[in-house]
Amino acid sequence: MHIHRLEKIWLTFGFSMLAVFLLVLGIMAFSMGITTPGSHRHAIDPAKVSETAPFDQPVLKKVGDNEYEAVMTAFAYGYAPTKMEVPAGATVHFTITSSDVVHGFEIPGTNVNMMVLPGEVNHISHTFKKAGEYLILCNEYCGTGHEFMKTTLVVK
Ligand code: CUA
Repeated sequence: MHIHRLEKIWLTFGFSMLAVFLLVLGIMAFSMGITTPGSHRHAIDPAKVSETAPFDQPVLKKVGDNEYEAVMTAFAYGYAPTKMEVPAGATVHFTITSSDVVHGFEIPGTNVNMMVLPGEVNHISHTFKKAGEYLILCNEYCGTGHEFMKTTLVVK
């Protein structure tokens, strides 16, 4: 079979482009897997959340100049710790896991909105510029008490 020389060039070009495309796709998938914002992941045994540090002691602690870390757990149907208060302008880094099923973590009026997955340590940060009572609620259906699953963060 005779293939025209120009066709050969085009075929080679086509295959090279396909190879480059697949390579780029692979690199993208790989880098996304390790650097997607908010997907900083660690594995944790959901059955042992209450015995695994730092989740054995859910707490809001000061980690810097007007910077706080909230180590939290989500469970059917609530969050721990229950009372949290920070000064206005504080940046809060939330570190949260679930001890049972998938829950949500949403603070209406802010861009804080993520899923809390059992077996994973989920992170999100927010700077609370305005004082007020911020509602933290579950927006993933998690059972009969889902609609009552909420807590508050007071910003003074
Ligand atoms: Cu937890 Cu809905």
